[in-house]
Amino acid sequence: MRKITIAIDGYSSTGKSTVAKQLADWLGYVYVDSGAMYRAITLYALQNEFIYKGELFIENLVVALPDITLDFRKNDSGKAEMYLNGQNVEKEIRTMEVSEWVSPVATIPEVRRKLVKLQHAMGENKGVVMDGRDIGTVVFPNAELKIFMNASAKERAGRRFRELQERGDTATFEEVLENVTERDRIDTTRADSPLKKATDAIEIDNSEMNLEDQFHTILQLAKDRIAGRI
Ligand code: CDP
Repeated sequence: MRKITIAIDGYSSTGKSTVAKQLADWLGYVYVDSGAMYRAITLYALQNEFIYKGELFIENLVVALPDITLDFRKNDSGKAEMYLNGQNVEKEIRTMEVSEWVSPVATIPEVRRKLVKLQHAMGENKGVVMDGRDIGTVVFPNAELKIFMNASAKERAGRRFRELQERGDTATFEEVLENVTERDRIDTTRADSPLKKATDAIEIDNSEMNLEDQFHTILQLAKDRIAGRI
């Protein structure tokens, strides 16, 4: 069966990674969470005080970029986890502190160039599902299937809030809602590779959809593309 490239973009906390993972598992494809890579760079900036007392020191971070090595490694249950310079940072990159800084870091063109290069290498053999903000527009503009996910801001913040609570994070719903809204604002208005729907992407609003419906809808689209039906 021919292998295709699947790009899933959309606003923060729209459930892109959940459906991307399900799809990659079902198809036997590689799943790449591009947001985890931006989060890992942000964690590095925090650890090395390139983010200090509420300020991001862009030039210092850019100079340090060659020192940053990122890779995904599978854990015992087969789930890919993010490694930063050989350390597993899968948990640390999901904190509210990282969420607060990741969008400013993702506006830096040098950061984007580094990560897009890695993402190209990860998807060069097709058979990949990648989720993010610029996958269908910049990383894989020729992807055979492009999905653009959306849901109301309240719904998205609610989902992220429950996720953080399960992990023991103490952030309030209002803080999460503000973070989700602010990230959307930065992601859609930045000069370099802003979040926008590719003209040939299929938009899915999942505010009222359960996970199973969403998965089956997108799986059907993928099967059709693989078979060359649409
Ligand atoms: O999972 P969630 O929707 O919270 O976001 P994420 O996929 O983990 O991405 C975190 C942040 O990284 C986004 O808000 C963007 O600022 C940035 N990002 C990006 O600029 N380009 C991508 N391809 C992926 C993420």
